[in-house]
Amino acid sequence: MLATGDGELEMTPEEFVLIRDFIHDRSGIYFTDNKAYLVRNRLANRMADLQIKTVQDYFYHVKYDLTLNEFNRLMDLVTTNETSFFRNEPQLLSFSDEVLPLLIDEKLKQVGPRTLRIWSAGCSSGEEPYTLAIILLEKLRTVAGWNIEIIANDISEQVLQQARVGEYSGSTLRNVKPEILARYFFKENEGYRIRPEVQSLVKFSHMNLNDPRKLSVVSNVDVIFCRNVMIYFSDEVKKQLVRGFYNALHPGGYFYIGHAETLHGISKAFRLVYFKNALVYQKEAVLAPNRTVPGSSHISGNTSSAASGAVRAMDLLSKIKPISVKK
Ligand SMILES: C[S@@+](CC[C@H](N)C(=O)[O-])C[C@H]1O[C@@H](n2cnc3c(N)ncnc32)[C@H](O)[C@@H]1O
Repeated sequence: MLATGDGELEMTPEEFVLIRDFIHDRSGIYFTDNKAYLVRNRLANRMADLQIKTVQDYFYHVKYDLTLNEFNRLMDLVTTNETSFFRNEPQLLSFSDEVLPLLIDEKLKQVGPRTLRIWSAGCSSGEEPYTLAIILLEKLRTVAGWNIEIIANDISEQVLQQARVGEYSGSTLRNVKPEILARYFFKENEGYRIRPEVQSLVKFSHMNLNDPRKLSVVSNVDVIFCRNVMIYFSDEVKKQLVRGFYNALHPGGYFYIGHAETLHGISKAFRLVYFKNALVYQKEAVLAPNRTVPGSSHISGNTSSAASGAVRAMDLLSKIKPISVKK
């Protein structure tokens, strides 16, 4: 690799493949050949700071840094962290007005502590998990008697740091209604800071979703949101991750992916529920007797009211009109 005349970093096709495959093996993020320019641009400043002249040398630098500091820096560079509060309103309406009431009903029938566990996987700078916390507070009015846990994680330390601070301004707040802004934020500096009662519901931590061992630690989750994350992964990594999500969910639990994403060709383990506001994946409530391995499309034996309510919603709606899935 040579520097070009205009001072830009030059990267050979071999060097691109070297660093691309490394990023994929570790994080699941896959850059197709037409994204080589993007990788090169994102590495250029970091390599200049480190005074590393070739991508091959940078590859060895990051690969053999056992502290993982450089790997974490690389993840800050190559991840796309775009997000905003109340992103994709129809999905959030289905969560607030359709999924949550079913779950709450179900939990109220249980004896003992009522736990609701939600997972925002690939949470970026915190807007998604804080939105979910606000929706829960709006719905429950009081969290007394509830054990609410919103697990939020990301591979980029940089965005997690912003999430923990919880201070926002500009376009990320564009979908926040004024009464919600007044109730759950306070003015600070040039922006708005999330109130402690919202913040206390969310537990941020660093997690690489491409690490099945880490994933297997999370269990008994009622709802998973992994929106706009898997689009950056190869199919092979998506399949492994979706298996992990399946195992982490409670029977009858729900799984949201980005509204433009699909599990088609990735997993048949979930049913697709046609709610009024959005399509949501669901793990069956009870495994059919002949069903032990996720991957089969045969589903039966839903006995929980959450599950049967969802099935009712699906049946009713599918009778009204055919639903087309946006791709
Ligand atoms: C486009 S943002 C989506 C944020 C939010 N879910 C939303 O829909 O608004 C994708 C996030 O996934 C994170 N991510 C990418 N690969 C990851 C991995 N292997 N493990 C954990 N997080 C990852 C990125 O750092 C980024 O913050």
